[in-house]
Amino acid sequence: MATWNLFLTIMAVSMTTSGWSVYGLSMQYYSMACPFAEQIVRDTVNRALRSDPTLAAGLIRMHFHDCFIQGCDASVLIDSTKDNVAEKDSPANLSLRGYEVIDDAKDQLESQCPGVVSCADIVAIAATTAVSFAGGPYYDIPKGRKDGRISKIQDTINLPSPTLNSSELIKMFDQHGFTAQEMVALSGAHTPGVARCSSFKHRLSNFDSTHDVDPAIDTQFLKTLSKTCSGGDNKNKTFDTTRNDFDNDYFNQLQMKAGVLFSDQTLLASPRTRKIVNGYAFNQAMFFMDFQRAMFKMGLLDVKEGSKGEVRADCSKIN
Ligand code: HEM
Repeated sequence: MATWNLFLTIMAVSMTTSGWSVYGLSMQYYSMACPFAEQIVRDTVNRALRSDPTLAAGLIRMHFHDCFIQGCDASVLIDSTKDNVAEKDSPANLSLRGYEVIDDAKDQLESQCPGVVSCADIVAIAATTAVSFAGGPYYDIPKGRKDGRISKIQDTINLPSPTLNSSELIKMFDQHGFTAQEMVALSGAHTPGVARCSSFKHRLSNFDSTHDVDPAIDTQFLKTLSKTCSGGDNKNKTFDTTRNDFDNDYFNQLQMKAGVLFSDQTLLASPRTRKIVNGYAFNQAMFFMDFQRAMFKMGLLDVKEGSKGEVRADCSKIN
């Protein structure tokens, strides 16, 4: 695993500083066939975020949910059919947002250069654009991901549940080649988003055999979470105090026992991840550096090349 991480780090550095390619991906992948591809996606996303900044969180999460299931192949965008229930319809994906932004970019790209730019690349570029729009680090990513042809609801069992503890999260991310530090950095993606009451209400009553309420929650913050839930399962709570900003406030909140999800607060509770949380709360630049590296690496997960994938004409259907 250490060798793999070293390899990816070297690749990440070489790819950001040169025109290198790996797995058939490259920084200039579309420079001949669709030179303005990346600009079109970035402009479309920036326009959408200017009218609704909350969508940044949706687009970042969409890339994560895409890459963790079947690799970064836009399988998350495929609609269910009469013979198949797709990832999109899994309870874990029902609150995903931003599909219309991806479709808007795709429509423009299909009219400029039909059949060239994959939906998987659009999702990946949209996520990086969303991070920088919200004030996070700007980082460039390689392109050339092909779109997958498989999307099954049962695969989404492999998305992390908010009830997982730090050791379980470390194990799950390790299965995808991430270190504990990278897992904590990636969790920092929660900084611009919200969670629905249904994702954290298990912390508020009948928590476990010895506690009615999760003891890791600050007593004042408990009242805030309970108030959110008094409005029903779909009411939202922001992960930190700066909803639309990509910053390190998420980690400050964890230090104050004001993490929204059990899986967030466990990162401070566990000695295996506490130092990392404290480090990011203290040093935002370090969080940004680790986050962009980890996102770059996430964007290479099980990427499909050549005939293993296709460029979908419509992101919601296989060709
Ligand atoms: C570490 C394990 C993770 C768990 C258990 C987890 C779980 C969750 C849950 C339960 C929600 C709220 C969903 C809802 O109530 O509707 C959420 C939201 C979100 N997640 Fe995660 N997540 C994890 C990691 C990540 C990663 C790695 C990223 C991106 C790189 C990410 C990005 C987001 C974003 C941006 C939101 C807010 C979405 C919005 O406001 O629409 N999460 N996550």
